[in-house]
Amino acid sequence: MCGIIGVTGNGPVVPRLIDSLKRLEYRGYDSAGVAAMVDGAVERRRAQGKIRNLEAVLAEQPLTASVGIGHTRWATHGAPTTANAHPHKAGRVTLVHNGIIENFAELKAELAAEGHVFESQTDTEVIAHLLDAELNTGRAPLEAFKVTLDRLTGAYALAVLIDGQDDLILGARRGSPLVVGWGEDEMYLGSDALAVGPFTQKISYLEEGDYVAVTRSGAQMFDVTGSPVERAVVQVSASSAMVEKGEYRHFMEKEIHEQPDSVQHTLSEYLDLVTGKAKPQAVDFAALDRIQIVACGTAFYAGQIARYAFEKLAGLPCDVEIASEFRYRSPAVSPRTLAVAVSQSGETADTLASLTWCKAQGLKTAAVVNVHSSSMAREAEVLWPTHAGPEIGVASTKAFTTQLAGLFLLTLVLAKLRGRLTAEQETAYLAELRSLPNKTQKVLALEPQVEAWSQRFANKHHALFLGRGVHYPIALEGALKLKEISYIHAEAYPAGELKHGPLALVDEDMPVVTIAPNDQLIEKLKSNMQEVRARGGELYVFADGDVHIEESAFVHVIRLPGGSNGALSPILHTVTLQMLSYHAALQKGTDVDKPRNLAKSVTVE
Ligand code: M6R
Repeated sequence: MCGIIGVTGNGPVVPRLIDSLKRLEYRGYDSAGVAAMVDGAVERRRAQGKIRNLEAVLAEQPLTASVGIGHTRWATHGAPTTANAHPHKAGRVTLVHNGIIENFAELKAELAAEGHVFESQTDTEVIAHLLDAELNTGRAPLEAFKVTLDRLTGAYALAVLIDGQDDLILGARRGSPLVVGWGEDEMYLGSDALAVGPFTQKISYLEEGDYVAVTRSGAQMFDVTGSPVERAVVQVSASSAMVEKGEYRHFMEKEIHEQPDSVQHTLSEYLDLVTGKAKPQAVDFAALDRIQIVACGTAFYAGQIARYAFEKLAGLPCDVEIASEFRYRSPAVSPRTLAVAVSQSGETADTLASLTWCKAQGLKTAAVVNVHSSSMAREAEVLWPTHAGPEIGVASTKAFTTQLAGLFLLTLVLAKLRGRLTAEQETAYLAELRSLPNKTQKVLALEPQVEAWSQRFANKHHALFLGRGVHYPIALEGALKLKEISYIHAEAYPAGELKHGPLALVDEDMPVVTIAPNDQLIEKLKSNMQEVRARGGELYVFADGDVHIEESAFVHVIRLPGGSNGALSPILHTVTLQMLSYHAALQKGTDVDKPRNLAKSVTVE
């Protein structure tokens, strides 16, 4: 996650860029940089580390201009050095980027073969070279920009300056947020409302695939097809934009939609995106004979899913237990056990107590937490951070998917160390993980279909969720989300267990939500679906794209984009279930972000 700002105005722009970057430092502070138009040519100043280092550079080498862009970096591709700091420059083009260009290696090879010389290890620099090459063919800036964007795979928010264009900033977004800020004879681009907060509270949120040409007098916006569009101008309160809903109705909705970004940010904690390899971890995995995960609620389900991977891929026995049970059970633990606490807040009392107990037993301890200054982060010997950013909605969404992504990467590291993963398998899994932000974005596009289903849930009193294997905990998570925010009673079962009792509940009134990935259990799951249909139950099936399920009046199917989702399937299916419960709650008019009787952080027993 990086922060972006662009200003085209009349007065000195650089101090204002710095002001904005300071507000964006929460998105990363590995390096920072600004670029500004000086007599028709763009000049840059960059520094490793925090904004204050950049200020020191600017004090030595001031930059005076009225058009400029700025960036604060959370390093993904390439070390946090000055050479890798944004803005990046190639020929006439200078730009800043938030996101990850998945096909950068292919593009870089192609450009290098044409004689382009690169000065950084970043994925971003290829965009500058591509755009410069398009300009050199004689295309106008907007046309060249569109052609460039069409060649990129992955996620981006961009702000671009072009030498000679002294009142123009180009911007674009796909998978990473970007807003246009409206001022008086002055315009802005920024990562969020907070970025442009010092200058304006009038914001247009660009939509997926949009691009824009910003000048002092306004903004020309285009959608993904290249057609001119207008995006509504909304008034925001900038002072607390970081904890505001922005364009969304609820924090939960915002947090669901932030998942491509937060998953990507978390992946880059564990994955070196330049080499494509998992980063080494400060744990002597070889000395372990067991993993004990402790967690509560949604985090417990993340632990259950991780268990499948730890045992299947790494061959290491793994126990997962609800912390409020574990802490009072006097469990028998082997001294070579690694105890892992999983928690968004890092403050959940039962999880913290379980972690402390494990530590007192002399076990190695680790914490997978989203709040990095939390009690668990400090208590555990090893901190494995997730980077979901602040999660305000009580219902956990992006914290969960980032936990899944982080834990899966850690499994790969462990599996490799234990000699259970071939180089080919590792490469294949890592490639899958790298495509996760993009695939998550595609799943989010199913929202209108999911919303249409949700209308049929609003008047229900009960729902059943079915999954098998690693998707059983996903069914549990889907049921928890539905009951938590819509107050509809929901149960989750492993589908093979239906005939041992819960089938008695099934009638025409009971919606049965089924998770149908294309895995080795799919045929068995289909038989379980038949059992439901034979009792009059109505099925709502979320299926991988290549699963064949016949639709009928009582079997509704939403297909995830693409074919089989493989190892990523649990994460992608989760997103559909989040949207279902969110829209069911909207229909019912409940307090989505603050459901009754609950709190975000449960710091008491
Ligand atoms: O902060 P934690 O992850 O430790 O919180 C654990 C649970 O309280 C939490 O996941 C809870 O179940 C969520 N409200 C579920 O959406």
